[in-house]
Amino acid sequence: MTVIKSASVLSVLVILLGLLCASTEGQLQLSRLQYFINKNFIKFGRANQTKTVRHDGAQLWKLHTQQLWSKPLVKLQLEYGGDVWSMNEDGIDIYFKEDVIDDVKVYLDGTDITYNIMIDDIQRAIDEANTPVNSTSENDPLQGTGVNMSWNQYHSFEDMNDFFFYLLEYFPDICSIMSIGRSAEKREIKMIRISNHNPENRAVLIDAGMQGREWIGPAALTYVMQKMALNWRKMPPSVKSIDWYFVPMMNPDGYEYSRNVDRFWSKNRRVQDGCLGVNLDRNFDYSWGGKGSSGEPCSRYFRGPEKFSEPETRAIRNILLKMKGYISAYISIGGYGQFLAYPWGDEDYVPGNYEEMHYVAKRALRNMQKVVGTEYKTGSSYSLQFARAGNSADWVLHTLNINFVYNLMLRDQGQHGYILPSAMIEDSGEEAFATAKTIAERIYRVQLYGESPATNYEQNHTYEY
Ligand SMILES: *[C@@H]1O[C@H](CO)[C@@H](O)[C@H](O)[C@H]1NC(C)=O
Ligand SMILES: *[C@@H]1O[C@H](CO)[C@@H](O)[C@H](O)[C@H]1NC(C)=O
Ligand SMILES: *[C@@H]1O[C@H](CO)[C@@H](O)[C@H](O)[C@H]1NC(C)=O
Ligand SMILES: *[C@@H]1O[C@H](CO)[C@@H](O)[C@H](O)[C@H]1NC(C)=O
Repeated sequence: MTVIKSASVLSVLVILLGLLCASTEGQLQLSRLQYFINKNFIKFGRANQTKTVRHDGAQLWKLHTQQLWSKPLVKLQLEYGGDVWSMNEDGIDIYFKEDVIDDVKVYLDGTDITYNIMIDDIQRAIDEANTPVNSTSENDPLQGTGVNMSWNQYHSFEDMNDFFFYLLEYFPDICSIMSIGRSAEKREIKMIRISNHNPENRAVLIDAGMQGREWIGPAALTYVMQKMALNWRKMPPSVKSIDWYFVPMMNPDGYEYSRNVDRFWSKNRRVQDGCLGVNLDRNFDYSWGGKGSSGEPCSRYFRGPEKFSEPETRAIRNILLKMKGYISAYISIGGYGQFLAYPWGDEDYVPGNYEEMHYVAKRALRNMQKVVGTEYKTGSSYSLQFARAGNSADWVLHTLNINFVYNLMLRDQGQHGYILPSAMIEDSGEEAFATAKTIAERIYRVQLYGESPATNYEQNHTYEY
C-alpha cells in the first residue's frame, strides 16, 4: 500500500518538475537553477531502480570462428543463450552465465570450434575495473578545483555535469553549453562547444555514450574536451580553426542504469510494450529496420517502434540538421573493437567519398599508434564488425553529405571488452584526441590550400600532422 502511494507522489513530482524544465528547454546557456533541478532529476531517476544485477561466475569467451549464423552457433545460442559482445577477424566474443558454462564446454568440444576464455569471472572484473589509478596531472588535472571529475576512474553523469559547468565557469571565452533535449527519464542531454568564435570556422560534432555499457566513450571524449579547453592556447591552428561540438553523453539514462543496476545495459530506458528501452544506434532513419536491428522490444538491438521514436535520437537529429552546410565531420565514439570505421553499416558497400575517408582514417591510425602503440583498423563499419542498420553515422552521411563520418570504437579487442580498466582511460582519450586532430588538420588544409579531397593524398609525404 505505502509503496504504491509513494510511487504516485513521486510521479506527480516528476511531472511537475518536467513542466518546469520544459519551459526552459533549448536555452543556450543553462542557468545554475536549471542545473540544480537537473541534479534532483538524477536522484528521482534512481528512486525506483531495482537491485543490482550480479555477474558472478559469468565468463567472456572468444570463439575462433566468424560464422555467427552457422548451424552449430545458432544451436548454441538457442540452447544456452549467451550475449554476443563483438565480432571481428579474431573471432566472436560471447558472454555466458555461470549456470550454462559446463554445458557449453561439452557442447563446443563436440564441434570443431575452438575458443579461449577471456574473462573467467565477469563480476570480479567489474569490481576491479573501476579501481582508481594514482592521480597524475594528466589523468586528474582538476585536482583542487572542488570538481569531482578525473580520468583515472569512471565517473557518474552527475560528475560529468559538474565538469561541464566547470568548463563554462573557467573558460567562458571559448566554452559554452547548450541543452539539446531531454532523455526519456528527463535527464538533460548537453552539448558543449569549444571555439574561438572565428566566423570562418567549420564545425565538427563528436558524440559518445550512445550505448549505456560503453563507458569508455564518454570517459575518453570528456578527456578530449579537458585537453582542448585547458590547453587551448597551445593547440595547433588546425584545432583552433574548428568549432568543436561535443555531446559526450547521448544516453544518460542507459549509462546511469549500467552504473547502478545492470552493467551491460545498452539501450535507453523508455518504457515500451512489455520491455524497456530502444537501442539508439538502430533508431536513425537510414535503412531503419534492416540487418543487425530487431523489431522485438525485449531485444538489446530493438530499433524502436518507428524511426526517431526516441527523444535522445531526435535531439541529436535536430541539432545536426541545423548544422547543415556548416558541419564538416561527425564522429560517434564507442567501445570496444579498436577501429575507426566509415559508413555504411547496413550492408557491405561503401559511400562515394570513401577514398578520402579511408586515407584520412589511415593517417589517424598512425597518429593513434604514436600514443602508446595501439593498433587500430579502418574500413566500412559493416566489414569491421556486424550489421548496424539504423545507426547514426549512416544517417548523418546520407542526410548531410559531409566529408568525414566515422565510428571510433576504442579499446580493446576483447581482453576486457566493455569492462575496460580505468588505467586505460587516459591513453584512450589521447587516441580519441589524435583522431579529432587528424581530421581537423585535413579540414584546415583543404580550406587553406584548397586541396581537393583525396588528391594524391597518400603520395604526398609533406603533410605534418
Ligand atoms: C520508474 O518509474 C517511472 C515513473 O513512474 C516509470 O515510468 C519507470 O518505468 C520505472 N522504471 C522501472 C525500471 O521500473
Ligand atoms: C600508487 O600510490 C601508492 C601510494 O602512494 C603506491 O604505493 C603505489 O605504488 C602507486 N601505484 C602505482 C601503480 O604507481
Ligand atoms: C567522486 O567520484 C567517484 C567516481 O564516481 C566516486 O567514487 C566518489 O565517491 C566521488 N567523490 C565524492 C567526494 O563525491
Ligand atoms: C603536397 O603538399 C604540398 C604542401 O601542401 C603541396 O604544395 C603540394 O602541391 C602537394 N603535392 C601533391 C603531389 O599533392
